[in-house]
Amino acid sequence: MSLKRRLADQIAANGPITVAQYMIACLHDPDFGYYATRPALGAGGDFITAPLVSQMFGELLGVWAAASWELMGRPDEVRFVEMGPGDGTLMGDMLKTLRHAPGFLDAADVWLVETSAPLRALQAERLGDRVQWAASLEELPDGAPLILVANELLDCLPARQFVRTAIGWSEQVIGLDRDGELAFGLIPSAAAGLLPDARPGEVYEQSPAQAALGAALGARIAADGGAALLIDYGRAEPGFGDTLQALRRHQKVDPLDDPGTADLTIHADFPAVMGAAAREGCETAILTQCDFLARLGIGARAEALVRAAPEKSATIGRQLTRLIAGDEMGELFKVCVIHSPGWTPPPFDESEGE
Ligand SMILES: C[S@@+](CC[C@H](N)C(=O)[O-])C[C@H]1O[C@@H](n2cnc3c(N)ncnc32)[C@H](O)[C@@H]1O
Repeated sequence: MSLKRRLADQIAANGPITVAQYMIACLHDPDFGYYATRPALGAGGDFITAPLVSQMFGELLGVWAAASWELMGRPDEVRFVEMGPGDGTLMGDMLKTLRHAPGFLDAADVWLVETSAPLRALQAERLGDRVQWAASLEELPDGAPLILVANELLDCLPARQFVRTAIGWSEQVIGLDRDGELAFGLIPSAAAGLLPDARPGEVYEQSPAQAALGAALGARIAADGGAALLIDYGRAEPGFGDTLQALRRHQKVDPLDDPGTADLTIHADFPAVMGAAAREGCETAILTQCDFLARLGIGARAEALVRAAPEKSATIGRQLTRLIAGDEMGELFKVCVIHSPGWTPPPFDESEGE
């Protein structure tokens, strides 16, 4: 039995499934889901993320965490959390930097929010007993301010897709073709009246799960104080477009090909996430990854690394370009902050253009 066969049997019996249901099965099915069974990050795996491009990324997020804690008035107790921590590289680099931030690690209890058993095992190997795990935000004890980081988490939360046809909005679903193979199709949508106006052919993506995460973070931070940084590829303004993407060994593949064996993502919908957090009483802001890292001083950090190891100059230059260039990760990736009212975390406090 494969996930493809099982989904085809279910669809034959019960009818088509939404893209969101398909994403949940592909990523989290306990027997076949990508994150449940075979997550493979890094150069030898299926996809690469910013912390795996360069240690500079995690180091600067560590600087961000320490600076935010200072601005919050150095609370005695703080929950330092990473959601969706992958192979633990990012938390490892942040903790290395935070050892040089007087007082932070005495105040912080360190949590990883992770659903994947194989990735928890990798994180434990890398980070040892310095960290604790929770399966969801709700499992994290409340009552202390939060400093939270999540890189490329929003993009693997399930989303629905709607397609504007000549006669109105339809929902994109996964059904079966005449040969019994998985195929995309359209069904009339009860949500049609709630969707924005658009030209025929446009695709509208909606992720209740992303918005729910924004709301949960917003409610927690409004009550306990703190800041959450969400970093991902996605849109900073509401918009249209089909962004469902499957990656296997760094190649884009058909999202319906051999489900469960590729990473499957959809763009982050930052306006929806930020709107949900704001409705819970938080403030929000957004920068491109390039602006965020530049303002935190990635240029100076790269120069220092080159001074310490001149023979690595070309490699460090390539890593810097990958993280901040407009045609690489610099513009497509955005950094959004959700924070309690009354202060603004760095570097969102710097006015535009500085
Ligand atoms: C694309 S990886 C990103 C890994 C890491 N942040 C990095 O930048 O290298 C997505 C991570 O989110 C985790 N994840 C997926 N869905 C999740 C959920 N609903 N709650 C918590 N973690 C989740 C995955 O297991 C994995 O650790």
